[in-house]
Amino acid sequence: MVPQAAPMRRIARYRPAIDAAIARVLDGGTAIGGVEVAAFEAAFAAFCGVGHAIGCGNGTDALVLALRAAGIGPGDEVITVALTAHGTAQAIRLVGAMPVFVEVDAATRTMDPAAAAAAITPRTTALIPVHLYGQMADMPALATLAAQHGLFLLEDCAQAHGAEIAGRRAGSWGHAAVFSFYPTKNLGAVGDGGAVITQDAALAERIRALTSYGWTDARRISDVVAGNSRLDTMQAAILAALLPHLDEAIAERRAVAAALHAGIGEAVILPRWDDGAVWHQFVIAHPARDRLAACLARDGIGTAVHYTPPLHVQPAFLSDGQPPLPITERLAAEVLSLPIQPEIAGPAIQAIIDAVRRGAAECAR
Ligand SMILES: Cc1ncc(COP(=O)(O)O)c(C=O)c1O
Repeated sequence: MVPQAAPMRRIARYRPAIDAAIARVLDGGTAIGGVEVAAFEAAFAAFCGVGHAIGCGNGTDALVLALRAAGIGPGDEVITVALTAHGTAQAIRLVGAMPVFVEVDAATRTMDPAAAAAAITPRTTALIPVHLYGQMADMPALATLAAQHGLFLLEDCAQAHGAEIAGRRAGSWGHAAVFSFYPTKNLGAVGDGGAVITQDAALAERIRALTSYGWTDARRISDVVAGNSRLDTMQAAILAALLPHLDEAIAERRAVAAALHAGIGEAVILPRWDDGAVWHQFVIAHPARDRLAACLARDGIGTAVHYTPPLHVQPAFLSDGQPPLPITERLAAEVLSLPIQPEIAGPAIQAIIDAVRRGAAECAR
């Protein structure tokens, strides 16, 4: 069986560097914060091309922290997409604001800038595009839109560590950007982890305070009500050990994606080719998606669906009175994620291609 994802295989591959990082933490006498966290934050900010990174507990917390630090809360509308992980929209509700879901572009599967523009009201205060599956949203257009309307632009980069558009990396376009280090992500911890990045020093300071009870300085004075969401020292050390290998891993993902793209050909709807994508997922589409998935399972190829049902029809958001989103709903019914992780898909490329072509032929009958 070729699994759709197996993060522990990446851990096994880099095990000596990870073991050394863990040993350093165990020998170092610091379990929370300390030099390991500071070193990872600095290295990750540099990787993204921004000035500040603040580690936190997970990607959803990162969204909440960034929104709170920007002053987004009750009465505010935040425009985002419904074809994304739950955390994107749950975070908007968690700060008391209202998510407004807009259509994605059918080809890029990311926020359609025209749909976002049409959804702006006097209550809109922020825009959260999602770089879904490792492909960046149209940031040149969305950054212009945000600037025209004075909106806080928050990039959801949970699936896009290192992705690029117009020569700039994911996370360097918005006022702030968030990352998840969930184990299956392109940069994944051995547990939960997340980060907010920004170029804005004052915003970074507010975010950091919100990660630790609102403390603004060493005297432990709280100016605001805040909880606790920190990147563990152990996870920071592990992520710092993996970060130097991320560019190599991205190159490998691109090579696997290119081989799948060329080999699968016209048999199914392929993801749009994008030189700047980092292929967190390789997502095909087919009108008979569930039958195709069953054929692939029979032939030993694991798949997953990201994401159905889409968020605007999830029970938690149904009462928000969201209009239908036909493109999003069609994609949610048709998308299928193939194995793409280099440690899994690399040796199995031909088997994946053959199974998809065979399955698509069967579904056409
Ligand atoms: C696009 C997107 N946004 C947000 C999140 C939330 O991240 P986490 O699971 O670390 O809370 C995820 C990960 O599941 C994601 O893929």
